[in-house]
Amino acid sequence: MKVLILGASGFIGSAVTHAFVRAGHIVWGQTRSQDTADIQFGPREIIPVVCDPTTTEGQATWTKIAKQVDAVVDCLAAGGAEQALSILNAFLAAVKGRPKGSPRPTYVYCSGHYVMARGYGGLDEWSDERQPAEAPINKGTIWRTKIEGAVLGESSINGIVVRPACVYGSSGSYFGDYHFKPALEALNSGKSEFDSIISANGKILTIHQDDAAELFVRVAEAAPVCRGQVFLAANPSTDNIRDILDAIVRITGLKAWKAKAPADAYETAWITPLLARPSLGNALTGWQPKRMAVSDGMDVYWMSFVKSEELKKNRQSKM
Ligand SMILES: NC(=O)c1ccc[n+]([C@@H]2O[C@H](COP(=O)([O-])OP(=O)(O)OC[C@H]3O[C@@H](n4cnc5c(N)ncnc54)[C@H](OP(=O)(O)O)[C@@H]3O)[C@@H](O)[C@H]2O)c1
Repeated sequence: MKVLILGASGFIGSAVTHAFVRAGHIVWGQTRSQDTADIQFGPREIIPVVCDPTTTEGQATWTKIAKQVDAVVDCLAAGGAEQALSILNAFLAAVKGRPKGSPRPTYVYCSGHYVMARGYGGLDEWSDERQPAEAPINKGTIWRTKIEGAVLGESSINGIVVRPACVYGSSGSYFGDYHFKPALEALNSGKSEFDSIISANGKILTIHQDDAAELFVRVAEAAPVCRGQVFLAANPSTDNIRDILDAIVRITGLKAWKAKAPADAYETAWITPLLARPSLGNALTGWQPKRMAVSDGMDVYWMSFVKSEELKKNRQSKM
């Protein structure tokens, strides 16, 4: 297949892009930065598309590629419903002129699992891909249902939604920001404890970035049977922030962690438990996550976070 990834330099987008390359596809990656294109894309066999995907000029650039590919994957940083819809509409306009009877082009939207979060409790709180996305808790992310509905309901394309859970691996993404960074800062400043956000029960639904990426590849490859469906990219069981923080204490030699309250809606969302088990990815594509849970693999995940931070610092000092 020919595939264009929007947001190909991102935490999820980079893993998705590399997974498509490894699977043998011809891959274009979009970024706004020429440096990223030169350093991260060219050497990894990713054909760079340098533009701001949201401007009229930028859309003219990436839609030229979108016209000729089989699949476009939107892995851009979340910018609200309007931005996501404008990207989808630019794609629809680009592929409109394909000859009648051609295979449907594929569009995969990277959403998020919070649209399903119902809280922690009994069986009523459990959810999965087959349940309506009502997000009674995380109202801040309910805008996603607008773009999800548009992608899934468009009959001229193979529209597919992937909802990653809390994603870990390499630089750590929000695990880095919310849990690892406070520990590293405590270590570097000679403190013995660090603070972290955590909910009362600590449950968190997670997925490694490479496992999530593998699901994107599989649903795009099987798009004619996956069209109109939502796929949850999550491990089959929840992890627990308590176990994650205890593992950080074990590895770093810090004495303890202390719970702190979330400071904003994003932090509140992060620690809101989502009780869900993915099954559609396995049923339709045979997808199965392989990587160790965050707490189980902490020796590796802590090291990759620390090394990513060092790399980031080195790059910044050279700029
Ligand atoms: N990370 C997670 O744990 C997680 C979990 C569930 C869902 N999600 C969702 O998955 C999607 C991707 O998340 P991510 O963490 O991979 O994102 P990310 O790394 O923060 O950003 C992805 C890419 O988007 C581009 N970008 C950032 N701001 C932009 C802007 N204002 N205009 C145009 N492009 C911009 C950047 O590329 P360039 O700078 O190279 O142009 C960036 O590398 C988001 O919708 C996010 O909410 C993330």
